[in-house]
Amino acid sequence: MPRGFLITLEGLDGSGKTTQIKRLAGWLQRRGIDPVVTRQPGGTATGDRIRALLLDSGSCPMAPMTEMALMFADRAQAISEVIEPALAAGRVVLCDRFTDSTEAYQGGGRQLGSQSVLELHRLVCGDLQPDLTLLLLPSLESSLARARARNERSAAQTGKDEGRFETEKEAFFRRVWEKYRAIAAREPARVVLIEGNLTIDEVQEQIVEAVSERLVAAR
Ligand code: TYD
Repeated sequence: MPRGFLITLEGLDGSGKTTQIKRLAGWLQRRGIDPVVTRQPGGTATGDRIRALLLDSGSCPMAPMTEMALMFADRAQAISEVIEPALAAGRVVLCDRFTDSTEAYQGGGRQLGSQSVLELHRLVCGDLQPDLTLLLLPSLESSLARARARNERSAAQTGKDEGRFETEKEAFFRRVWEKYRAIAAREPARVVLIEGNLTIDEVQEQIVEAVSERLVAAR
């Protein structure tokens, strides 16, 4: 059986990844491909517990190394429980965030550097790399505004506080944003950069174009 295909979606908080993942899953289904959709952190029972620990503002203060180690602990579980079995079964996997998030947020944002992230990736994930990464990178200003609005809405609706990342200072998000750009420049064959302030439909068009090209080429 041919191996599956791993697609990751990346971007700042508020970049519209969640909407686009849903749309892409629907688009694939209409073409007879039933994708496995997952997210990081989370996506497994163990991962959901790690996610709660990571995203709850109450768990401050957390050392940057602790944060990075937890992200990889979550990833190890997701790879073993969800991603590897799905790829081995020939499935297309859509993953909301993967190691590029760790490189951007912990490597860039928390200033742990790319090298430590890439070394941990090798140790934890071996040679598993996404076949395609869709990086949604609207302007920093509009990403920040959307993330803030979303966080306020969700806290008001659920009473659940997942705002630890969104309350970070603007300088942090700027470093994340810049690291994402650096990753795209370093790995243009894997990472498709979708930038600018596009409409949801325009972003979807670019995603569909990239996915059709790569999936067809891989099969
Ligand atoms: P989430 O609510 O899933 O945000 P989004 O919908 O924008 O993906 O929260 C995930 C948060 O975790 C997000 O702020 C990015 C952060 N994160 C890291 O800092 N490092 C990582 O390795 C991953 C996977 C996520």
